Amino acid sequence: MVGLGVPVTKYYPDYYQRRLGLTPVSEETASPKTVNEAHYHANNQAFVKNNQITHSKMEEPKMSENPTIVAVNGSPHAGVGNTTMMIEMLRGPLSEEGFNLEMIYLSEKEINYCYGCGFCMEKGKCWIEDDHRGIVNKLLSADGIILGSPVYFLHVTGQMKTFLDRSLAYGHKPRPTWKPGLAVCVSAGFGETQTAEYLAGVLRVYGAFAVGRLTALAAGPGNFVGLEAVKAQANDLARDLARAIKEKRRYPATDMDVRFYQFMGDLVKNYKDGVMKHDYKHWLEQGLYDGFESYIQQTTTRPQYNPKARDAWIKELIASHKKKKKTKPMATPAQPADQGPQTAKNCAELLQMMPLGFNAAESNDLEAIYQFEVSGEESFTAHLKISEGACTYHDGPAKSPSVTIKTPANVWLAMAKGELDGQQAFMNGQYKVEGDLNLLLRLKSLFSG
Ligand SMILES: Cc1cc2nc3c(=O)[nH]c(=O)nc-3n(C[C@H](O)[C@H](O)[C@H](O)COP(=O)(O)O)c2cc1C
Repeated sequence: MVGLGVPVTKYYPDYYQRRLGLTPVSEETASPKTVNEAHYHANNQAFVKNNQITHSKMEEPKMSENPTIVAVNGSPHAGVGNTTMMIEMLRGPLSEEGFNLEMIYLSEKEINYCYGCGFCMEKGKCWIEDDHRGIVNKLLSADGIILGSPVYFLHVTGQMKTFLDRSLAYGHKPRPTWKPGLAVCVSAGFGETQTAEYLAGVLRVYGAFAVGRLTALAAGPGNFVGLEAVKAQANDLARDLARAIKEKRRYPATDMDVRFYQFMGDLVKNYKDGVMKHDYKHWLEQGLYDGFESYIQQTTTRPQYNPKARDAWIKELIASHKKKKKTKPMATPAQPADQGPQTAKNCAELLQMMPLGFNAAESNDLEAIYQFEVSGEESFTAHLKISEGACTYHDGPAKSPSVTIKTPANVWLAMAKGELDGQQAFMNGQYKVEGDLNLLLRLKSLFSG
């Protein structure tokens, strides 16, 4: 985020002013110079009585008579560069939507480096007399704003960065507006998306938020990759920006908003008696310490809820959870009584239905083949394959069954229906088993119903 640094220089502004041969600026805050700034000062008075805020008022976004979008262009190629071309692509649709576009080329302005003296945080404005403050005032009074820069070494140009650095006085003071803005960025092929994201973030310093980012790749002047696509996106974004202003649009609060609020609120309070005196005054006057909702100018919806109903619901959850734990997990959903294996009309049907009653939870990692050689009223061979927690029926013999059950049809049918005890029938030799006898013992738990 912006302007988070605490000044490190121990020298104070008078020193610099004298060194530069300048007359020290008045310690009073500059009188408002623009319509909206004047409006802001006139209408956003908070009264601090005995350190208690009795009233705080934020600014309702309103359109000026001559709605204007101010674009700050950080490219050194004033009037001819790719950034200029991209911002100019916005002009037509903006004009059709009833907005003027004012372009400011930083390269044509005198903007000195920030000294990091911290004067602005303590006194409210920078002591350097150059073009910076005038540009910021234009941004503050605009209906919407655009920050544009080409990528220079994976970031904005020095011109744009210098302009932003000099905005420290504003970076610590959330503005009373949340007006729509755009970020515009072009690279030769690397870094325009993150640089646009950065520009979108710093819009906040001037009381704006990004409705979008116009980005493009272009190596030489006008060499856009997909010029038509860039123009189309510019058209869409310009119209969206215009609509956002007309609708007084707001977007939902984000984690960055929370972080900025908490961090900055704390920082300013910690230095309220020193370098951030003026910042602190601003926070108090704007009622920002009233809480995040005050800062973001959005209120949290607090739905009604019935605590008794909630308690009952939680009790029900706990009870049903305990009950579930006690009950054995059923891997296969229970079959309706009229669909289970016990409804089988004959032994062939019974074996075909056995997979329906298969308890996967009981199988663990069992890999086995149960072969059935059925005799008597029905005469056939079939097998059940248990593999990877599933059971499947197959006609005919298996290549290598794990266990083979040789049974008359009526015996197996009677056992399945519970009319004959399986163990007893085996002891009586009513059916025979070859292979792994343990598998016979597991049959009951493997197949329910
Ligand atoms: C000093 C310098 C640094 C640059 N750094 C990058 C860079 O990091 N990544 C990139 O893709 N292009 C880089 N470029 C290319 C410009 O971003 C590109 O040419 C852009 O279109 C220029 O926009 P403009 O005409 O609006 O000034 C750099 C150009 C210059 C002069």
